[in-house]
Amino acid sequence: MSVVLTTISGPVATVTVNRPEALNAINGAVLDGLEAAFAEVEANPVVRAAVLTGAGGKAFVAGADIKEMQAFGAEDARAFSARGHSVFARMESSRLVWIAAVEGFCLGGGCELAMAADWINASAKSRFGQPEVNLGLIPGFGGTIRLARRVGQAKAIELCVTAEMVRGDEAKALGLVNNLYEPGTVLEASQAQAQLIAGKGPLAVANAKRVIRSGADLPQERGNALEQQAFGIQFGTVDGKEGMVAFSAKRSAEFVGK
Ligand code: CAA
Repeated sequence: MSVVLTTISGPVATVTVNRPEALNAINGAVLDGLEAAFAEVEANPVVRAAVLTGAGGKAFVAGADIKEMQAFGAEDARAFSARGHSVFARMESSRLVWIAAVEGFCLGGGCELAMAADWINASAKSRFGQPEVNLGLIPGFGGTIRLARRVGQAKAIELCVTAEMVRGDEAKALGLVNNLYEPGTVLEASQAQAQLIAGKGPLAVANAKRVIRSGADLPQERGNALEQQAFGIQFGTVDGKEGMVAFSAKRSAEFVGK
């Protein structure tokens, strides 16, 4: 059985890390599997939104694979970190919205994987944390940078140096989790949310995500200019016209992705 599974249901793709016996810990094979899955989903013209999850219900992902990492020297670890970063970044640069659906443990490299998605849905009982200091290590797949951007520098330092886990409801209060759902229903709710997004204009969805992500690293004036350019681009699309015509005609828009 593959360590990463991809299923396509209508316009919604679901990518599942599938090593439940190791709480879906990320090893080299999982990184290879995620890279292939991200490429496959991105290239599938039918797919309009995507969900990322972990198999088994006990964990989204409990971190990078500690047993595999034990053999690493400094250069192996640097390369593993670089590879993780490059694979995870594919969700950020994707035309698609990626939703992380989290049940159970979401720790270390797992929390880092979830944070590379566009947002995180979770149950109140799920557990988030960056426990690397317990191992004498630090986060290596974006935990220092992405976590600080999501929850602020002081809280990120606190979480990374205490290794304390926070529950899903606390993570929501911190801004790490967008939406809470009942335990056992997070994947289904995330797929329903993805289905809703799939009904919107796909170029508009991709463009909105691109501007927000790119704009976050720009001074406000340059971000505003980027938005103006992107707003203009939408008016040159078939979907932009269709959406406004359909509104005026009081019918549902039929978006074609052009
Ligand atoms: N790597 C490798 N195997 C892992 C793992 C990990 N990160 N997390 C869990 N497993 C394995 C366990 O070794 C165990 O396997 P065996 O049955 O073969 O012993 C199996 O998954 C089930 O785990 P537990 O028996 O430990 O389950 P539990 O319910 O008692 O505890 C837990 C759950 C608290 C999440 C505990 O498994 C744990 O602390 N896991 C490690 C969490 C961690 O430290 N994550 C950070 C890893 S470092 C990292 O991610 C670096 C980075 O940023 C890139």
